[in-house]
Amino acid sequence: MKKDITAIEDIQLLVDTFYDKAVKDPQLGHIFNDVAKVNWEHHLPIMYKFWASVLLGETGYTGNPMDAHFRLNEKIPLTHEAFNSWKNIFMETVDEFFEGPTANEAKKKAVSIADLMFYKIHNYDQSAGVNIGKVRRD
Ligand code: HEM
Repeated sequence: MKKDITAIEDIQLLVDTFYDKAVKDPQLGHIFNDVAKVNWEHHLPIMYKFWASVLLGETGYTGNPMDAHFRLNEKIPLTHEAFNSWKNIFMETVDEFFEGPTANEAKKKAVSIADLMFYKIHNYDQSAGVNIGKVRRD
């Protein structure tokens, strides 16, 4: 029986393993390595805080994920295929190590944030300069 996600160490294992796979993925690798040229020492602690806030209710993440990906999408279009790979790798990594209510929540949240992100990015009306996809789902 695998354990559930309960502590920051679990989040770190999930995030570290996810990015190990993502940087090698044909859909995603070049985005992290060549386009964003991610500084991992900077990015990984942000991602630990992000997922700790989503899954463990911790405070500490203060960024804006939607804005970050809007900016990224201006450098390289974030396609449906790229989002599918992102979601598949995330699901696979959760299932590799964890099971339980929080593990399920992690998968549900990842998919809903990814789908909302894709929707917002692709419903941005360039000509009007407004984001017609800005809908509240809460
Ligand atoms: C095609 C899908 C995606 C790609 C290629 C992608 C790529 C990236 C890149 C390159 C960064 C910037 C790293 C840096 O600081 O240099 C970033 C930041 C981030 N990503 Fe993604 N991402 C994707 C989807 C997602 C999804 C679905 C989520 C959430 C469920 C997410 C959460 C975040 C967060 C929280 C940050 C940090 C933003 C901040 O600076 O506060 N990403 N992503």
